[in-house]
Amino acid sequence: MIDRTEQNLSLRPAEIEDAEMLLKWRNNEATRMASHTSDEIKLEKHIEWLKATLQNQNRDLYIAEANGVSVGTVRADYDNGIYELSWTVSPATRGQGVGKRMVYLLANRIKKPIRSEVKKGNEASFKIAEYSGMKFIKEDSNGVLHYQRNGI
Ligand SMILES: CC(C)(COP(=O)(O)OP(=O)(O)OC[C@H]1O[C@@H](n2cnc3c(N)ncnc32)[C@H](O)[C@@H]1OP(=O)(O)O)[C@@H](O)C(=O)NCCC(=O)NCCS
Repeated sequence: MIDRTEQNLSLRPAEIEDAEMLLKWRNNEATRMASHTSDEIKLEKHIEWLKATLQNQNRDLYIAEANGVSVGTVRADYDNGIYELSWTVSPATRGQGVGKRMVYLLANRIKKPIRSEVKKGNEASFKIAEYSGMKFIKEDSNGVLHYQRNGI
């Protein structure tokens, strides 16, 4: 449990050693509901994905830490002049302001435009997108809400 008032949140690049922790967070039911692909992922496939991610020049994957404890993950995918952000908070530290603060931290470091896709009904994530400076753009035909911020 982290202190709600704790401001000491930092981001570090993800490493291959984070594979099992990231998979646990990814396979958590609420995470699956919020993802574009909601099937359960096996460790082997996940390790392949993480290796490819760590080598991908257009993808940055971070782990958020509070007092040395890993509390969430946030990702930036670069494509055609814009970074798409996506995020997951550790199931044990949800509802404590981690999501807002970790996404804000990364959004603020990125000077180019940013965007995000949030499934309708994911209220916490709308707030996170808005807190990070993104504005609602449109809802697409799949019930996905698109948020975007210009360059800063
Ligand atoms: C959605 C998720 C990222 C939110 O992270 P979090 O650290 O729990 O969120 P925060 O504590 O920063 O809360 C952000 C805001 O949402 C509100 N909130 C938090 N949980 C909520 C919930 N279940 N329902 C409605 N609002 C909620 C908070 O009160 C806060 O609002 P405020 O700005 O008015 O204070 C986290 O629950 C998660 O990882 N879920 C599964 C994966 C996922 O949904 N990923 C995002 C895909 S776009």
